[in-house]
Amino acid sequence: MKNLFESLKGVHFQVKIIDLGGLRLVVKEYGREPGVLKWAFIKASTLPFQMYPFETSPFNRLTREVKAFKSLRGFMTPRVILVDYRDILLVREFVDGSNDPQILDQRIEELGLALSIVHNQGFSLGDSKVDNIIFSPETEKWFIIDGEQVVESATPQTMIWDLLLFLSSYLLLTIERSPRRLLDFRRRMLLFLNSYLGNIAARKELSNAAGTSQVKLVSSLMLPYPYSRVFLETIRSSSS
Ligand SMILES: Nc1ncnc2c1ncn2[C@@H]1O[C@H](COP(=O)(O)OP(=O)(O)O)[C@@H](O)[C@H]1O
Ligand SMILES: [Mg+2]
Repeated sequence: MKNLFESLKGVHFQVKIIDLGGLRLVVKEYGREPGVLKWAFIKASTLPFQMYPFETSPFNRLTREVKAFKSLRGFMTPRVILVDYRDILLVREFVDGSNDPQILDQRIEELGLALSIVHNQGFSLGDSKVDNIIFSPETEKWFIIDGEQVVESATPQTMIWDLLLFLSSYLLLTIERSPRRLLDFRRRMLLFLNSYLGNIAARKELSNAAGTSQVKLVSSLMLPYPYSRVFLETIRSSSS
């Protein structure tokens, strides 16, 4: 699983950043082949686990993203400038910010809380990798800049998927960019999870789901031992 997401990290061919005399905009074309192939691949490879209803159709991914950018709570989202349903593209504002591990480390509890607000709203992100989450120093707010897999029908499985994908990408980023901080990863993972669990409405349902063999299997594929065990135990014990 990790290798899958890691190998797809560089695929940004459906997104172009343009500069209109100082105004930076992002154009995303959902029908471009790498984007379509990426989601077909992820959907097919995660299908046996039944964790998330991934969408491959360009039109439906555009619709999901527009809906997310217009109604998602918990995070800020880029302003939508233009939606073109015929050419299946979306123009949105460029968010100036970063997701450096240092900023993530310092503000990890804010992210746990923000994700709980998304889930309490009934939404799930689907693509909750750190690459899609940006901190804007100007507004001091976190943005979700990629909402093409956002659904309005969150279930305990999709919520756990969001948590696992976020944590596994956060772990990979830590290994890649600041391996020294790896020693501290477990503590930061717990800060994130406890902040999330402290505000989540569906705590009991999540706890039950975390005991199923399906979720145990996916957790062990997404997070190396012992992080996968800590992850499951923290969710399991949060409702007792
Ligand atoms: N609104 C935005 N503001 C700033 N950067 C963006 C924005 N949209 C996209 N990007 C950059 O482009 C990358 C790819 O965009 P994204 O919408 O995540 O598509 P994909 O995941 O299919 O490549 C992001 O990881 C980010 O670096
Ligand atoms: Mg993305």
